[in-house]
Amino acid sequence: MILERIVLTNFRTYEKLDLEFGERANLILGSNASGKTNLAEAVYFLSLARSWRTLEEKNLIQFGKEEASIRAYVREGTLHREILIELTPQAKRVFLNGKPLRRLSELSRLTNVLLFSPEDVRLFEGPPAERRGFLDVSLSKRSNDYLALIGRQATLLKSRNALLKEGARDKALLDVLTDQLIDVEEPIVRYRTMYVASLNAVLPKVLGRLTGKTAPCSLVYRSFVKDDGRFKERAKKAYAESLEGDLMHKSTSVGTHREDFRMKLGDRDVAEFGSQGENRMAALALKLSPYFLIEEEEKKPICVLDDVTSELDVDNAGRLLAYLDELGQSFLTATDLSLQGASVYEVADHNAKRRN
Ligand SMILES: Nc1ncnc2c1ncn2[C@@H]1O[C@H](COP(=O)(O)OP(=O)(O)O)[C@@H](O)[C@H]1O
Ligand SMILES: [Mg+2]
Repeated sequence: MILERIVLTNFRTYEKLDLEFGERANLILGSNASGKTNLAEAVYFLSLARSWRTLEEKNLIQFGKEEASIRAYVREGTLHREILIELTPQAKRVFLNGKPLRRLSELSRLTNVLLFSPEDVRLFEGPPAERRGFLDVSLSKRSNDYLALIGRQATLLKSRNALLKEGARDKALLDVLTDQLIDVEEPIVRYRTMYVASLNAVLPKVLGRLTGKTAPCSLVYRSFVKDDGRFKERAKKAYAESLEGDLMHKSTSVGTHREDFRMKLGDRDVAEFGSQGENRMAALALKLSPYFLIEEEEKKPICVLDDVTSELDVDNAGRLLAYLDELGQSFLTATDLSLQGASVYEVADHNAKRRN
């Protein structure tokens, strides 16, 4: 998709902003606290009606104002759409071509944004939860079924943990909950295994482009128990074996909600043996890989990179920028950045203006 124009009203620092964007790289430049990330955040908001920065959505409304809105004009092939998101402290409403969307989740079918933030470049250095988060979010975008499985698992886990907190006096209920958990974990493991395999099919190419070197690399995912046709049996055993500890810690210590995956460069784990630069480029390559799994050209996501280039050395940043520009539309915030032919916007005084 292409974001052709955005109109912000009372969104963070922007009382009124109306910008048209270029179809390739859009550089959003300005000094600290000028409002660059605020603009990137508005673009990202179009994909999930959520921010990556805050769960407190009333913070998106300009201080002292009653409501905010993001109006976007997007194009998918020859199809033009107008998306309007209205935010009040109490509610969030989304309209497509003037008609309200019944469910916010419909938005992710219409728009797709890949976000890269400074924390993302440390994906392999950080805790497993962040890697799982990446896997869950990008897989959920591809599969509603997976999204539903993850939701159901979260509900079941909550109930199981609540029961553990009370000492699990109702053993029959504990067994039922455990069995239900295993029932959703089996397909979760299958989805993850398949998705990791598809990412691995594109990852070496992406990393090669980002580093300028070809080297074998792959994600390594091992489910919490082997999925060899005896998953349920093995999972039951794992739950039974950890029950004593679970009762003591009042939480569920085994399961797909604790899984992790790592990346290997050559035959070494990148987090353990890679340089900082290798780690960062590996993380970026992984985050960019879902782009290549979308077959229809017009459905390709737009990329939003908030302050990412400042985390990279000049050569790596240059290759990243050139690659993104070649792929399609992207939005990059930085204090300073240049790329021949890119659309450049300057952010200052609570406003953003096109420079070229
Ligand atoms: N709801 C809001 N209303 C008005 N200003 C806001 C709001 N939320 C954040 N800001 C201001 O936005 C500025 C930060 O903008 P940001 O886009 O993060 O800057 P940067 O250019 O460094 O990325 C801060 O000065 C902050 O006070
Ligand atoms: Mg910023």
